[in-house]
Amino acid sequence: MKKEEAILEVQNLSKVFDANTDNEKDVLKDVSLQVARNEFLCILGPSGCGKTTLLRCIAGFEGYEGSVLVNGQERRLPGTDRIMVFQDFNQLFPWKTVEKNIQYPLKRQGIRDKAMLKERSEDVLQKVKLSGYEKYYPYQLSGGMKQRVAIAKALALKPEIILMDEPFAALDAMTRNELQDELMRISLEEKCTIIFITHNIQEAIVLGTRILVLAQEGKIVVDEKNRIEKPVTPASEGYGATWERLHSALYQ
Ligand SMILES: Nc1ncnc2c1ncn2[C@@H]1O[C@H](COP(=O)(O)OP(=O)(O)O)[C@@H](O)[C@H]1O
Ligand SMILES: [Mg+2]
Repeated sequence: MKKEEAILEVQNLSKVFDANTDNEKDVLKDVSLQVARNEFLCILGPSGCGKTTLLRCIAGFEGYEGSVLVNGQERRLPGTDRIMVFQDFNQLFPWKTVEKNIQYPLKRQGIRDKAMLKERSEDVLQKVKLSGYEKYYPYQLSGGMKQRVAIAKALALKPEIILMDEPFAALDAMTRNELQDELMRISLEEKCTIIFITHNIQEAIVLGTRILVLAQEGKIVVDEKNRIEKPVTPASEGYGATWERLHSALYQ
């Protein structure tokens, strides 16, 4: 990849937890990675291999050694260019309505104009197919709807990169498939760059334009373009072979 095409560059990133204690742990060791604009990068890896930590370092929530560059500029702190979406259904403020949840980070960015806030929240709710739910509170929504709102909230900030940490892992299988389709559509329409962590091989193949498999300490053991034509189904040409390859890399 030529340098100017990379929206994100992770250079020699290392992370040690509990340094200089008996629990000292190298969680990420010298991880380097480039992500191209509009790429949908899915990251698979066994539990504990450092996926969440890698995403948190990119988001600026953790200190680390090495560099994270967005459009060639070093980033050490959180910013609205990198927005994280979590697995947890409780990432919304329970005391705020759907639209207020979406508008809150926009207000913090300095957008005060009421009409503009309303327009922005209505626009993103339409994108996640939740028009009409503006005045609902999180407790009135299903898990899938809450994750839709979390995605809408991220989209509203117009980030350069959306970082998703197993956002569909706690959903039932049908809702999960539905949200995969929606996210697929949104990523194509919005032309956004997404880094998406999952435990699920099917999910990585359905969504990713590129797939990584990590091993312990964030070691990249597979890095391949996903050439299966979208929309991907288990009957798509190449699905079985890709699934086998990723499966054996994950369980090697
Ligand atoms: N704040 C922390 N303090 C100490 N160890 C941590 C912390 N966060 C994560 N770890 C450890 O780092 C390793 C990687 O964790 P994590 O990035 O959550 O893995 P994954 O998301 O791939 O399951 C695990 O061994 C975990 O126990
Ligand atoms: Mg994790």
